[in-house]
Amino acid sequence: MTRVFNFGAGPAMLPTAVMEIAQREFLNYRDMGTGLIEISHRSKEFEDVINSADSLLAELANIPDNYKILYVHGGAQMQFSAIPMNLINRNPAKKAAYVETGNFAGLARKEASRYGNVTVAASSENTDFDRIPEFDVASLDADTSYVHITSNNTIYGTRWQQFPDTGDIPLVADMTSELLSRRLDISQFGVIYAGLQKNLGPAGLACVIVREDLLGHATPETPSLLNYKTYADKHSLANTNNTFAIYMMKLVLEWLKGEGGLDAMEARNDEKSALLYDVIDNSDFYLAAVQKEHRSTMNVTFNLANNDLLNDFLEQALAKGLYALKGHRNVGGIRASIYNAMPREGCVALAEFMQEFEKNNA
Ligand SMILES: Cc1ncc(COP(=O)(O)O)c(C=O)c1O
Repeated sequence: MTRVFNFGAGPAMLPTAVMEIAQREFLNYRDMGTGLIEISHRSKEFEDVINSADSLLAELANIPDNYKILYVHGGAQMQFSAIPMNLINRNPAKKAAYVETGNFAGLARKEASRYGNVTVAASSENTDFDRIPEFDVASLDADTSYVHITSNNTIYGTRWQQFPDTGDIPLVADMTSELLSRRLDISQFGVIYAGLQKNLGPAGLACVIVREDLLGHATPETPSLLNYKTYADKHSLANTNNTFAIYMMKLVLEWLKGEGGLDAMEARNDEKSALLYDVIDNSDFYLAAVQKEHRSTMNVTFNLANNDLLNDFLEQALAKGLYALKGHRNVGGIRASIYNAMPREGCVALAEFMQEFEKNNA
């Protein structure tokens, strides 16, 4: 069997080595005569898995001791509710500020507005989200409970290159489509969250990294299983958690460490994305979808100058094993999602295909 180069935005390709280990261990985990997903979340074996996931993530992302790692049900969008429920009550004014950089940022803001006084602190909507907008931190009221950003915008292909210093107001970041793709100073953030399905594992669960002093402020109506304190107090095992997703995440983290950690991954991601951006920049046939200085290294978005060729492009790419390159339905065009698991060869193959397609169709 040949595996395609899967450019889908998520659920996304996982490292082949990880898929092979999972396959090997699926029926018979550690010679137990049973699979890991068939045994208790309170078993010694699963405890080892979740402890390893914690320590690998803390080591790889250089997470300071005053942060907790949580595995929260419901994927990234469930965090759009969990964030206000856990944080907006920090101040009686119940204020939160959102920076609007695309579809998911907007959904997060709309959900939060059900819980308090939510404002748009900055937006790039008027330029079709082709950039990260200027954001004046000084404009925030001091009693703002938190500021929310989407660090990498999966649909549009932009990312924050640097993060704003919000001082005493906790900065909350949706890092679903880029966590562990580059080095970060975790201490700049109050909360980071990410759905697992891009760089971390299967869909349906979110990894949350939260500063300890932000626990314990949830509004009284917050369901226990959305209250970060429940997860922190019970090591994410207040109820039966998604043991398979946590196991897969542990395997991905082991793989990442073996690949050289975040230093190596960031350099590789810069190089991989540059292979594609170079083709786009050196051509009138392909048009970059976003401003150069705001480009993502995870989601490379572009258009064909002649959009009538789009279906041919996608069909011919697929025939060469380049899968799922269609842009998001909101924006059209082409999107190559090249998360950590996408090998350099996948980007080389796509860059070569793009040049060949241009030669044949220009
Ligand atoms: C930046 C970002 N936030 C949130 C989500 C929503 O994730 P989920 O489907 O896990 O709720 C996505 C999904 O692609 C995303 O890219």
